[in-house]
Amino acid sequence: MSRHDARPDVRDPRAATGASEAQEPLEPALSAAAQVDPRLLTGTRRHACFITFEGIEGSGKSTQIARLAERLDDAGEPAVVTREPGGSPLGRRLRSLLLGGEIARIEPIAEMLLYVADRAQHLREFVEPTLASGTHVLCDRYLDATLAYQGHARGLDLELIRRLHETPPLDRRPHRTILLDLDPELGLERALRRNEERRIEASEGRYEREALGFHRRVREGYLSLAEAEPFRFRIVAAEGSTDEIAARVADLLSDLFPALDGEDGS
Ligand code: TMP
Repeated sequence: MSRHDARPDVRDPRAATGASEAQEPLEPALSAAAQVDPRLLTGTRRHACFITFEGIEGSGKSTQIARLAERLDDAGEPAVVTREPGGSPLGRRLRSLLLGGEIARIEPIAEMLLYVADRAQHLREFVEPTLASGTHVLCDRYLDATLAYQGHARGLDLELIRRLHETPPLDRRPHRTILLDLDPELGLERALRRNEERRIEASEGRYEREALGFHRRVREGYLSLAEAEPFRFRIVAAEGSTDEIAARVADLLSDLFPALDGEDGS
């Protein structure tokens, strides 16, 4: 794990910041700001940013998120990396149930509610206290994953998922979402190769076993979410070298982090 990987089992932000469980972590001003065009925050931003990364399997999110964390740290903008599912002790148990092979079939609505449970715990225990401490949070998957996978691909009601996310702490919205877009055939091939290399098929292979049509629906779902919220989303072509993609990502965040402007991404 990289030095930037601050998932709670690795680096507890409360230990670093002195924030306590009892501290009220929600910042109404930030929540409200997150509903508006984040470009309005440019130049006057005083709050930490919540940036999410989304994409199909094998789109290279984890690599890109680690690169961005490194560049932000170098630029004097400390950022921590976390993920869903699995960004809290409860979440790690849920992740193994959701992605592992122990339970062969999970009813779609049960699956969706488990992702939402993971998110509520993650927000309350990790994301909100970290943002309140002034540290940026880079999150590998968030609400859009539930909309794309459980909504668009599995066919659950999108409005039901959205309504659940109107209740605190689930009403937190990212300042910016980077969608790493890739042909699902290519993505699946990469993901299966990676799983084989790391021998993680048995513990985390649930979605890689889905048919190609499922992954096409996920991709289309993500693209339609991005089209509906152009202020929040930035679509990045996830083809090319890691450096090239990192440069594209940095470019698309330079309005929120001026220190990233003009760097070459390497
Ligand atoms: P990861 O391997 O990128 O960490 O993703 C974990 C898997 O969880 C991925 O296949 C997508 C799935 N997922 C959902 O289906 N819904 C969700 O809400 C989230 C957060 C992840």
